[in-house]
This record gives sequence, structure tokens and C-alpha cells, in this order.
Amino acid sequence: MAMVVLTGCHHLPPSKPLSELTPTEMRGYAIYQSQCASCHYANTEQPLHGPGLQGMFKKPYLPSGAPANDDRVLSAIVHGRNMMPAFGNVLDERQLQDLMAYLHTL
Ligand code: HEC
Repeated sequence: MAMVVLTGCHHLPPSKPLSELTPTEMRGYAIYQSQCASCHYANTEQPLHGPGLQGMFKKPYLPSGAPANDDRVLSAIVHGRNMMPAFGNVLDERQLQDLMAYLHTL
């Protein structure tokens, strides 16, 4: 049974409900809403201006093909990627950590 669930790539486990977010995750959610939501859906893999981010850490690879780990995701956020702007001068270290905590709930 576990095998069936793990191999079905479009049956990702559901995101953590907003009502269950920790204070850190909730701060990250607020940052996401103000900085990321205009280009990325959080509740589907469907693209908006950039790829949908639902389940991004539950899959082995990011849309670019890079491994879905903290290093690669932080690098995309801090440095930007093609049409995605860089946030290295917008978000401080604490805000980046809060945002990452939220992204892990998707
Ligand atoms: C102006 C639109 C825009 C905004 C704002 C934006 N992104 Fe993106 N994002 C994109 C686009 C376009 C891509 C696809 C880049 C590519 O690989 O060509 C992308 C790609 C990504 C990826 C995938 C990287 C990969 O390696 O595949 C992640 C993760 C991501 N964005 C997270 C975020 C987060 C978190 C924020 C908020 C801090 C954000 N984005 C804000 C447009 C945006």
C-alpha cells in the first residue's frame, strides 16, 4: 500500500492546513502572500507566471530539474532564476527561514 502511494507522482500528500501552521510557518505564509503568490499558486501544481509549488518538497525534483532541497530552493529565492526576480535584497535571513518553513508545509 505504501508503495502505491509513493510511486503515484500526482497523488501528493495534502498540504498542511493553514489552521495548523506554527507561528513560524504562519509568518512564512504572510511573506509568501506578499512576495510570491502573484506568480506561484501554493495549492496546485498548475503554473501561474511560475510553476505551482504545491508539494514542492514532497517530490524529488524542482520544476527546473534541480533536486528539491533547501539549498536549491533558497538559491532560487535569493538569486532569482530566469524570469523570477531575486529576493536576496528584499528578505532578510529570518524572513527567508520563515518562508522556507512555510514552503515545507505545501
Ligand atoms: C514575477 C514572478 C515571480 C515571483 C514574484 C516569484 N517567482 Fe518563483 N518563479 C518564477 C518563474 C517564472 C519561475 C521559473 C524559473 C525558471 O526555471 O525558468 C520560478 C521558479 C521558482 C521555483 C522553482 C525553481 C526551480 O529550480 O525549478 C521556486 C521554488 C520558486 N520560484 C519560489 C518562489 C518563491 C518562494 C517566491 C517568493 C519569495 C517566488 N518564487 C517569487 C516567477 C516568480
